[in-house]
Amino acid sequence: MTDSTPDYRDSGLEFPAGFLFGSATASYQIEGAVTEDGRGPSIWDTFSHTPGRVLHGHTGDVADDHYHRLDADLDLMQRMGLEAYRFSIAWPRIQAEGTGRPNEKGLAFYGRLVDGLLARGITPIATMYHWDLPQALEDEGGWRNRDTAFRFADYAHHLGEALGDRIHTWTTLNEPWCSAYLGYGSGVHAPGVANGAAALTAVHHLNLAHGLGLQALRSTVTRPETQYSATLNLHMIRGDERAEQASQEEAIRRIDALANRAFTGPMLRGAYPADLLQDTASVTDWSFVRDGDLEQIHQPIDVLGVNYYSTVTVRMWDGHSPRSTADGHGDSAGSPWPGSDDVEFVEQPGPYTDMGWNIAPDGLEQLLMDLHEQFPELPLMITENGAAFPGDEVVDGRVDDPLRIDYLRRHFTAAHRAMQRGVDLRGYQVWSLMDNFEWAYGYTKRFGIVHVDYESLERTVKQSGHWYSELIRTRRIPE
Ligand code: NOJ
Repeated sequence: MTDSTPDYRDSGLEFPAGFLFGSATASYQIEGAVTEDGRGPSIWDTFSHTPGRVLHGHTGDVADDHYHRLDADLDLMQRMGLEAYRFSIAWPRIQAEGTGRPNEKGLAFYGRLVDGLLARGITPIATMYHWDLPQALEDEGGWRNRDTAFRFADYAHHLGEALGDRIHTWTTLNEPWCSAYLGYGSGVHAPGVANGAAALTAVHHLNLAHGLGLQALRSTVTRPETQYSATLNLHMIRGDERAEQASQEEAIRRIDALANRAFTGPMLRGAYPADLLQDTASVTDWSFVRDGDLEQIHQPIDVLGVNYYSTVTVRMWDGHSPRSTADGHGDSAGSPWPGSDDVEFVEQPGPYTDMGWNIAPDGLEQLLMDLHEQFPELPLMITENGAAFPGDEVVDGRVDDPLRIDYLRRHFTAAHRAMQRGVDLRGYQVWSLMDNFEWAYGYTKRFGIVHVDYESLERTVKQSGHWYSELIRTRRIPE
């Protein structure tokens, strides 16, 4: 390591007043209580109950039982000193079948959550859609069906009416990349469809849902200081330096179009990139984009949510050697990269987390800088960052997780460096508040800064959680 390459292991760096330190979760991953108080089934209930879809047949039926432990979990957040809490609302608790009158009991649960946060001085950041689509809508085609975007707007309208006076920041969609490409392209996520054209159709209908949902929310929310956002898992893409320059550039451009510009284009610029349409012409003619859709999607937002975990490294496949597909998203029936099967994802240098993802804090700094250059007026918020590591165990009431502390230290350092270089970064939500259902990996990957014992459901703050509390209290990265 040379002097010019930082190792991102700083301590003492100070974050400004107003920077929102918090932690994040999502409904299906923590709530459990899947048949209570009028909740209908979601695509993740169906998927997790389908043999072979989730490791060990794990489901979200009980999860962290957060639905029944709400008050204790709120007290825990307060004891940890969180300034913000990013949670998601389960659509099937509000509309069991995705349409019609809202379910008062579902709204009441989130009302209690939000009031509980405010009473404890914690800022609520609400995600309207974190992947638990009502199964009844999937039965009509899910995100392949244009009507789902309109159903989403209707749902957003109900949320705005019920909670709009109390939410600080609304996020329409969490990681639509995953909903579209993992849900309908590779099929490793619910609903488990493996079809490139379906994935791109879903991309557009998710974008449309974002735009229509934002407008529906805005029309009901009266609180003028409310912030509106979307959360994207923008890919930090690097070229494989062993490949020719042209091969690196082409592969980066192709994946950037599918993963990043397919969302930032319509949402933030009002157009799909021309090269995306060309690259995917053999998969779809994009006739699902109708006149006027782009105006609907291109709505002003106040802050962009950034979820960051690691980088990907790419090059074009030479057509001969065995093709490497190490894109970090697991084995799958289909490709999550429609029209770009000739792009190779190569192994990256470690160290790695328990997900097999490489640890690259410099990637976070660079991603924030890139976004700042592309969208200089748009404030950013890290809505997720964190890591799963093996071996988190409770010993004498304590969970030592030095690797997670090291991971967080380096990524907070990276975020601080980006701020020093001019990025308007408004906050940081660590993923996750507690260990939870990690989608196709079930409960085998622990991302929490709080440990959950899945037998007793007891919570134990990990050493990383204590470290984070210290960071929040002092506003400086601890020793
Ligand atoms: C992204 C997702 O939003 C979240 O649900 C997931 O658990 C984390 N990343 C970790 O994979």
